[in-house]
Amino acid sequence: MRLDKFICKSSDYALADVVALIKAQRVKVNGQLASCATQQVHINNSVTLDGGVLTPRPFRYYLLNKPAEMICSNIDEHYPSALNLLGVERIEELHIAGRLDADTTGLVLVTDDGHWSYRLTSPNYRCEKVYEVVLSRPIKPEAVQRFQAGIRLQGETQLTRPAALVIIDPYHVRLTLTEGRFHQVKRMFAAMGNRVKALHRQQIGCLCLDVDLGDWRCLTAAEVNALSGNDERYQALDIEAVNPLKRPYS
Ligand code: URA
Repeated sequence: MRLDKFICKSSDYALADVVALIKAQRVKVNGQLASCATQQVHINNSVTLDGGVLTPRPFRYYLLNKPAEMICSNIDEHYPSALNLLGVERIEELHIAGRLDADTTGLVLVTDDGHWSYRLTSPNYRCEKVYEVVLSRPIKPEAVQRFQAGIRLQGETQLTRPAALVIIDPYHVRLTLTEGRFHQVKRMFAAMGNRVKALHRQQIGCLCLDVDLGDWRCLTAAEVNALSGNDERYQALDIEAVNPLKRPYS
């Protein structure tokens, strides 16, 4: 982790304050004066501020059922940020791993752990996201094969990754993607001459949406670990550490 982030995560200082702390020679890493805010430090390094050892707060992981007319950004714009729904401190440190459009509802994962969210969002890791889609025109059965073969989105050269389409009825389908291009679901159906009327994300990896619209919960240590693909750094997670702010699980 970068030294400036480490300091912010261990104190009440904002990122913008850290350069001044280093310039004032108040920060040491393993006993040596720190020279640069972007220096990499390991969680096991000894970082001190004015001689006191800094210990980063544990990372946080939440599941949220995003309503429509809320956005997956950290700042309110035309619509308010969905992060406002979380009744937790320091929401400015959090980000959403895999954004949904303002008019899309459903499962979003919120964290301050960039390494973990990269595993969920990078196409390299092929984490499955399952969407329920309502269409404005009836879907043709041959669409299943087209989605499996890959679709050329407008303005792009690379076909979409194979996507599993299940037709529930002519206007209602379930689509499983392993990548997350900009407005991907809407653009895939647009490329087929159809239009998405309503979009809802029901599942990410092994995690199914299990809270009411607008509600949220902390992830369990087992869920954090499973979504990381059992990355060794998540295997010894302590549930008390993962969920310092208690909230009943549903
Ligand atoms: N694809 C979209 O088009 N919109 C979303 O919100 C998510 C996936």
